[in-house]
Amino acid sequence: MQSKISQYTTEIEAFEPKTAEDLERFRIRFLGTKGIIKDLFDEFKSVSAEEKRVLGKVLNQFKQSAEAKFNAFKDDFTEQTNATNKEDLTLPGEGFQIGARHPLSLVRKQIVEIFKRLGFVLAEGPEIEDDWHNFSALNFPEEHPARDMQDTFFVQKPTGTESDEDTKQEAFALRTHTSSVQVRLMEARKPPFRALMPGRVYRNEAISARAHCFFHQVEGLYVDEKVSFADLKQTLYYFVQEMYGEGTKVRFRPSYFPFTEPSAEMDISCTICKGAGCPMCKQSGWVEILGCGMIDPNVLENVGIDSKKYTGFAFGMGIERITNLKYQIKDLRLFSENDVRFLKQFETEVI
Ligand code: DAH
Repeated sequence: MQSKISQYTTEIEAFEPKTAEDLERFRIRFLGTKGIIKDLFDEFKSVSAEEKRVLGKVLNQFKQSAEAKFNAFKDDFTEQTNATNKEDLTLPGEGFQIGARHPLSLVRKQIVEIFKRLGFVLAEGPEIEDDWHNFSALNFPEEHPARDMQDTFFVQKPTGTESDEDTKQEAFALRTHTSSVQVRLMEARKPPFRALMPGRVYRNEAISARAHCFFHQVEGLYVDEKVSFADLKQTLYYFVQEMYGEGTKVRFRPSYFPFTEPSAEMDISCTICKGAGCPMCKQSGWVEILGCGMIDPNVLENVGIDSKKYTGFAFGMGIERITNLKYQIKDLRLFSENDVRFLKQFETEVI
């Protein structure tokens, strides 16, 4: 038995596994449940007591040396296997795509913040609107051609049993402008008002680079005693300086809206060529950004406000237009196509 042990000892000493499989074979051969060491211990049971004293020690040492060999290499191989399975933590990360704020949201937020500094508060109204709030209260007489200024999407009532007269009275439409929110606000509360009303509006227009069937507006309203056109000009002038930078020029051109008198459209010096003339401003040096005016006394009376005591101004601007001029976006369709290549360009804009 002793000579067998010394033979195996030499084998163990010389053993050097190259792979995890080599080591596994070694483990089974020596340390396995049916392995050499198990056999030797079985054999040990039947030797004489005298031999046992000597052999016991030898056998234990032999067992320990086999275990030590196994353990020494086991760590090597487990480390190696782990290393191949593990991620290399020194490699750069894969990164993940995070969403970006939509340019229209960024600009809306900026507009709101500018007017907030002047004491304007936010108000909202529904997108499906009745005739009164979208047209009649705003001094668009029924059958008046001014209603055609805005091609309207009418919303059909679910039941079709009413007479023509009833249908007309209860006509609903997708609001064509945020001016309807002015009416709702003035009906619901008492002056003074200083409010800003952002929202989505709809018009029955063919979709192209320059027109869309839905877009966004911000409506402004200021009603109090002794509000004048000078207040209107100063407020909008401040807005333009904040939005497009100091030195941006403004000019007001007479215009027509049923709900304001007098009415005006406001232009600013072209943000691209600074007034020198370019394709954006059609070589004029000016670009139109909004409509405005003093609220027509008829509108104030329609919502129960004393037009002798109170005056006010209103304005409405398209957020897409304001955004186009800020970022030089030439095609309106980009805003609603959700192409990440377009949207990603604004992700660094933190306002
Ligand atoms: N509602 C008008 C439009 O959609 C814009 C507008 C013009 C709003 C003049 C106003 C205003 O409040 O005073 O074209």
